[in-house]
Amino acid sequence: SNTIKIAPSILSADFAKLGEEVRAVDLAGADYIHIDVMDGHYVPNITIGPDVVKALRPHSDKVFDVHLMIAPVDPYLEAFANAGSDIITVHAEAGPHTHRTLQAIRNLGKKPGISLNPSTPESVLEYLYEDVNLILVMSVNPGFGGQSFITSQLRKIEAIRKRIEALGLDIDLQVDGGVNVETAKQVIAAGANVLVAGSATFKGGPSKYAENIKALRG
Ligand code: DX5
Ligand code: ZN
Repeated sequence: SNTIKIAPSILSADFAKLGEEVRAVDLAGADYIHIDVMDGHYVPNITIGPDVVKALRPHSDKVFDVHLMIAPVDPYLEAFANAGSDIITVHAEAGPHTHRTLQAIRNLGKKPGISLNPSTPESVLEYLYEDVNLILVMSVNPGFGGQSFITSQLRKIEAIRKRIEALGLDIDLQVDGGVNVETAKQVIAAGANVLVAGSATFKGGPSKYAENIKALRG
């Protein structure tokens, strides 16, 4: 689709006021609420679990876009589904049976997403296109907000967009990491339609969220 969706990553929100922050970015025009789940094992940071997702659910009706950076992931899918996730994205690198994991997400009634680290080639997607609603291209190495955009990922975004179109599928192509007003233009031109933005959304505090989100749409 041509419409650009903005998914603020609440990793850059004030964790002491998470409910208010989710409400604020919802009102400021966020399309999805991007929730980064890290386990200190698959990635070198620890964030939040399913109980926090559940606690946030009453604060917004927007799509909860849950990015799982955890391994193993299969034992936790049901908890994240029950917590109110809409999209559940897993890393292709995080487990040996990605196809099974994506099927499990679909069987829980949720939209499956697949994420690729910067060093992972798009070819791993070849037998998964039919099984996903979202493809996430990481444009930083996962673990932290506020890192710089890795330019080589633009080629990957272009290649995946071409493949989605050739197959005639309706799949969100999401980019996560180092997205700001400048890199947003580049990822949109490359074919992404969902932009995750942590620091670029939350900088300046609540009074700036609407302006920040609008600027990212280009
Ligand atoms: C990184 C997370 C990102 C991160 C993006 O592992 O997946 O969602 O919060 O933060 P920014 O937009 O600040 O690069
Ligand atoms: Zn993320």
